[in-house]
Amino acid sequence: MKRYIPVSRVEGKASRQAHCDLPEGTFEREMSKEGFFGPAAFFHHRHPPTGWIEFTGPLQPRAFDLAKLAAGPDSPWSAPEVLVNAHCRIRYWRLPGRMARLARNADGDELLFLHSGAAELFCDFGRLALVAGDYVVLPRGTMWRIESGSPVDLLMIEATNSSYQLPEKGLVGNHAIFDPAMLDAPQVDGEFLAQQSDDGPWQVEVKRRNAVSTITYPFNPLDAVGWHGDLSVLRVNVRDLRPLMSHRYHLPPSAHTTFVANRFVVCTFAPRPFETDPGALKVPFFHNNDDYDEVLFYHAGDFFSRDNIHPGMMTFHPGGFTHGPHPKALTRMFQQPKPATDEFAVMVDTRDALDVGAGAAAIEWSGYVDSWKGRP
Ligand SMILES: [Fe+2]
Repeated sequence: MKRYIPVSRVEGKASRQAHCDLPEGTFEREMSKEGFFGPAAFFHHRHPPTGWIEFTGPLQPRAFDLAKLAAGPDSPWSAPEVLVNAHCRIRYWRLPGRMARLARNADGDELLFLHSGAAELFCDFGRLALVAGDYVVLPRGTMWRIESGSPVDLLMIEATNSSYQLPEKGLVGNHAIFDPAMLDAPQVDGEFLAQQSDDGPWQVEVKRRNAVSTITYPFNPLDAVGWHGDLSVLRVNVRDLRPLMSHRYHLPPSAHTTFVANRFVVCTFAPRPFETDPGALKVPFFHNNDDYDEVLFYHAGDFFSRDNIHPGMMTFHPGGFTHGPHPKALTRMFQQPKPATDEFAVMVDTRDALDVGAGAAAIEWSGYVDSWKGRP
C-alpha cells in the first residue's frame, strides 16, 4: 500500500478554490501529479509564467504544420512518423485516394482520425463510410483498406502493444460525453460483398515490430460473408461528442478524455460554452504538465488560446514545459467576447517521453517557442 504524503495548506495571498477568484492581478499556475488527477499546488504569480525573454535547450515546445507534408504514400506503414515512444506511435498520412494493398497492424490497435476528405473503409468487418471528424478504432489484426476519389488526410495513433478502451466516466455515468450507442460499426452490405473478388492477386501489408511483411493472395481476403462477436471496428465523430462543462469552474483537459490506452490518453476538445461565473477562469490555467508529454492536433475552428495556429497543425509540449494562454488570450482571462469556444482538437497525453520522428523535422515551425512573447 502507498499513498501521497498528505498536505493541505493555504499560504500568503491565495484563493482556496482552484481556477477561481485569483488574487487581483495574478496569474495562476498549477503544479500537479498524475496529470490533473493527483495532488496539486496552485501558485498565484505576479507575472505570466510564460513571460520568458529567452528559452534554449531541448525542453522547447515544438510545432509542426502537417498540412505541408507531401501527399502520399499509398501505404499507411510508409506515412511519416511525427512523434513516437514505446507505447504510442503518431503518424500523419496524406493518402492520395485509394490504397492499392490491404493493411494489417500486428503491433497494436490503431486509431484513425480523419482530418479532411471523405472515404470508404473496407475491412474484415464490412464497409463503413467515413467523413471528416471521424475517429475509427481498428482492433489489432484487422485487415483494412481505404478508398476515396480524392485526397484524405488522416492522423494515425497506434496503441503499441495495447488496446483502446473507454475512460471511466465516474460521476457523470456511462452515457455522458457520448453514448456507447453512438458508436457505428461496419456492415456486411451490398457494396462490401461486391468488392469481394477471386481475380487476384491481392496483397496485405502486415506490420509487426514496425517492419512490414507482404502476403499475396490469389483472391481478395476481405471475403467474410458475415461475423458475430463483441469486438469490432468502431467509429464516432467529434461532432457527436457532448463535452462536459461547468459554468463555475474551468474543467481540466482530462474531462475531455475520449479513449484510453496503455500509458496514454486521447482527449477531444469540442465547442462548449465559456464559464459564466465572474470569478471563474475562462482560459486554460498555466501548468507544466509534469507527468505527461502533451500533443495537440488542431482539426477545425478558431483555437482560442493559440495565435498563429491553423487546422492541420500539431503542437508538442514536453512534460515539464510551462505553458498556458498566449498573451492575446490572457486579456480575456475573465471575460470572453463570445459565448462559446469554437474549436475541434485532438489531444494525446503520453506518460512517457516522445521522440520527434524524421518526417516531422522538415515541416517544423521553429518560432513556436517565441509565440508567448509579449505582454498581455
Ligand atoms: Fe497543457
